[in-house]
Amino acid sequence: MAIAEELEISRFLKDQPKKLFIGGKWVEAASGKTFDTQDPSTGEVLARVAEGAAEDIDRAVVAARKAHDSGVWRDLPPSERAKVLWRAGDLIEERAMEFAQLDSLDNGKPINEMLLFDVPLAAATFRYYAGWVTKLTGETQQTSFPGKYLSYTLREPIGVVGAIVPWNFPLLMESWKVAPALACGNTVILKPAEETPLSALLLAEILQEADLPAGVFNVVTGFGETAGARLAEHPGVDKIAFTGSTEVGKKILHAATGNLKRVSLELGGKSPNIIFSDAQLDRAASGAFLGIFFNQGEVCSAGSRLFVQDKVYEQTLAELAKTAGEIQLGPGIDSMTQMGPLVSQTQMERVLGYIQVGSDEGARLVTGGKRATGHGGGYFIEPTVFADVDGRMRIAQEEIFGPVLAAIPFTDEDDLVAKANDSIYGLVAGVWTRDVKRAHRVAHKLQAGTVYVNCYNVADPATPWGGYKQSGWGRELGPYALDLYTEVKNVIVDLAE
Ligand code: NAI
Ligand code: MG
Repeated sequence: MAIAEELEISRFLKDQPKKLFIGGKWVEAASGKTFDTQDPSTGEVLARVAEGAAEDIDRAVVAARKAHDSGVWRDLPPSERAKVLWRAGDLIEERAMEFAQLDSLDNGKPINEMLLFDVPLAAATFRYYAGWVTKLTGETQQTSFPGKYLSYTLREPIGVVGAIVPWNFPLLMESWKVAPALACGNTVILKPAEETPLSALLLAEILQEADLPAGVFNVVTGFGETAGARLAEHPGVDKIAFTGSTEVGKKILHAATGNLKRVSLELGGKSPNIIFSDAQLDRAASGAFLGIFFNQGEVCSAGSRLFVQDKVYEQTLAELAKTAGEIQLGPGIDSMTQMGPLVSQTQMERVLGYIQVGSDEGARLVTGGKRATGHGGGYFIEPTVFADVDGRMRIAQEEIFGPVLAAIPFTDEDDLVAKANDSIYGLVAGVWTRDVKRAHRVAHKLQAGTVYVNCYNVADPATPWGGYKQSGWGRELGPYALDLYTEVKNVIVDLAE
């Protein structure tokens, strides 16, 4: 556990073993067990974390239920709730370097991306939802009998919310769920991914410092099959918000049937990034590059299927190969690094397996294709581009979740739309063209929750996030998330004398 002393985060990391945060207290797992989280750039142990399981989830549900029923949070004046969330945003920003170092060490991602993307967006998400707390209102309805009835709606918190998040953007995914859930007056139990459990604990520290009442926010670190599964099936949990694989999303759905808890799911993707020959090609090529290689390709919205109109196909591939060859691989914690390791050995092997599948299926390897050596025991993979991919190949159909691009040529708009929509997923899509009519026409035809025109992976707390088809259920962020974390109550009053 050789963590440089001079890092801002070394105090937090030395404070071991880490505990669960339940009912406003730091407690050990009921079993007393711990597990190790790794630094994937070396494969070495980064920290030892409490291994929460079913019994700990049960304790957290008791604490969250008690806090909910007491009204200590839901019944606060809205401006007071807003203040806590705004303060959380401030504290995330004040401790930006600690969060950046923490997720960078735990996940492997470049620290510059943490500082420019994950951390500011997480802070902005808390502030954005701080703004909604004072604006959560219902409506009045014009009924069919004017003057006879008064009908109005209220938005109420759902109750105890379980949030299960993945390892690719730990702090950010936590914020996307915790901020709107708290804004709407719910209490929360957060189960971070076992690969990256640390930032959830720092978030707990911060929310405590922001004066969030005890029991309103709880963190249980542990494994998906134990802690996660118990949270999903628990009869005392009113809602599950999940981000992760489509496979586990389906399990969550089954687990939720016991008490028909509300479920929102943000799942996998195989998103088409589309370059028409009239696009501004330098920008399109760099959009295609970042679309797949940002965050090592471990992005649900990665533009992993690149559609290029045949006239500019070879030229675009050459540009991509050149840039991919120049990318600086290294540990995320090094500020010179442009691409880090994959999160775990398992993930690296899964991605290498897909690279083999691509070769076996007959796709043309343009660049990359191997584990990147020269980085000790780290889980690095070369940025990889396959060309001449057929849309029915597995590398064009299945989510790889790594730095592997499948490039597919197309002839015209009709050909493109059919190919782009040929997927079980529908999270996002990108369209690069100078033709404004074509941009909107294609945007209307694509089956995706977000369509980026001449940009890619632009994220903002105000814009809705979620997918069509097997990319999930519901929309996070923006005002849409308020629907995920409130029940609508209709009150009808007879006005007759
Ligand atoms: P995963 O879906 O297993 O993990 C996501 C979260 O779900 C983690 O917190 C995990 O502990 C939890 N979980 C796992 N099994 C559970 C269960 N039975 N009940 C409740 N919670 C459970 O993802 P994994 O295995 O880490 O990655 C596998 C693949 O999933 C990746 O290669 C990628 O294709 C996809 N994935 C997609 C993500 C996205 O953002 N859409 C994020 C992470 C993974
Ligand atoms: Mg880790």
